[in-house]
Amino acid sequence: MHYLAEAATEAYEAARATVARFVGADPRGVVFTKNATEALNLLAYSLARRSLGPGDILLSTQMEHHANLVPWQLVQPDAGFELRHVPVRPGGTLDLDAFEAVVATGRVRLFTVTGASNVVGTINPVRELAARVRAANPEAVVVVDGAQLVPQVPTDLLDLGADFLVFTGHKLYGPTGIGVLAGRPELLEAMPPFLGGGEMIANVTLEGATFNEVPYKFEAGTPMIAEAVGLAAAIDYVNGIGMGAVRAHEVALLGAAIPALEAVDGVTVHGPHDPAARCAVVSFSVEGLHPHDIGTIMDREGVAVRAGHHCAKPLVRALGSAATTRASFAVYNTLDEVDALVAALAATRRFFDR
Ligand SMILES: Cc1ncc(COP(=O)(O)O)c(C=O)c1O
Repeated sequence: MHYLAEAATEAYEAARATVARFVGADPRGVVFTKNATEALNLLAYSLARRSLGPGDILLSTQMEHHANLVPWQLVQPDAGFELRHVPVRPGGTLDLDAFEAVVATGRVRLFTVTGASNVVGTINPVRELAARVRAANPEAVVVVDGAQLVPQVPTDLLDLGADFLVFTGHKLYGPTGIGVLAGRPELLEAMPPFLGGGEMIANVTLEGATFNEVPYKFEAGTPMIAEAVGLAAAIDYVNGIGMGAVRAHEVALLGAAIPALEAVDGVTVHGPHDPAARCAVVSFSVEGLHPHDIGTIMDREGVAVRAGHHCAKPLVRALGSAATTRASFAVYNTLDEVDALVAALAATRRFFDR
């Protein structure tokens, strides 16, 4: 009843409306979660574990972040579906022939794919893949991991042809501790709750409970109010620039960075080389150098890169290594910073050549 509490609720629901507009979703289909990982676990437990069974295929890909691999693995033994993965080709794109072979069985009940790879940058043809999956099995549900896609490429749920889209606040210039599951409200309505507790109920007795309407059925406990409001502020920020302009800027940075990195002795950039076909994470390997050594020396040069498996071990293994070095560009980066990155990599090369 208190006006401050009401103001907090209003701000939280306004954040939901902002998120919904941003990705073309119905606000009733926008569930706030802790991060993208929790959103995918929600789908694994409340959808895959309950609605898929023996004879069904859950199709994922070798290109996924662990967040889009492990939750499905966890529920697979209980549900008994078959878990399959589309392999990745050497150039860092999905093997579409292998995809087609699995889809043609008509047994794919859930297809989950990243919109853009956090390692090789590849932007997947989600709309075409979703249409193909649905044509082969009208009951199939399509899930898109938008953790990299949503912050970098204008994204619309309906246009993608997806049933569910997940993303995470901290990659969208927002706070940590907030993620989004955006999906079709009628599918969410048919799903059982994931986490139980306060807020998600309609009535509780000692014997059982009935549940709130969506999206609240999936938001147990005190919500991430501050984080959701922070995420909406971040969305206002990118909307102020325009997602088209964000994308154009990052494509320009990629266009400069990819050839300049490959001009450094011994450097191979992974994934598609056409900036239009990829998002703005650039993984590379340097012949004879370990990514952790590269990361350490580049840090001394004042450049932050990430070294490791990037939480995508099956993909990095497919690239023929245990780790890569990755530069990530965002809307605030400049062409001068691309030059600084390349100069730091060249200096790192010289350091180890001494
Ligand atoms: C493609 C992709 N999916 C999922 C995630 C998981 O995001 P979070 O750890 O915020 O849940 C990430 C984050 O690195 C990502 O890049």
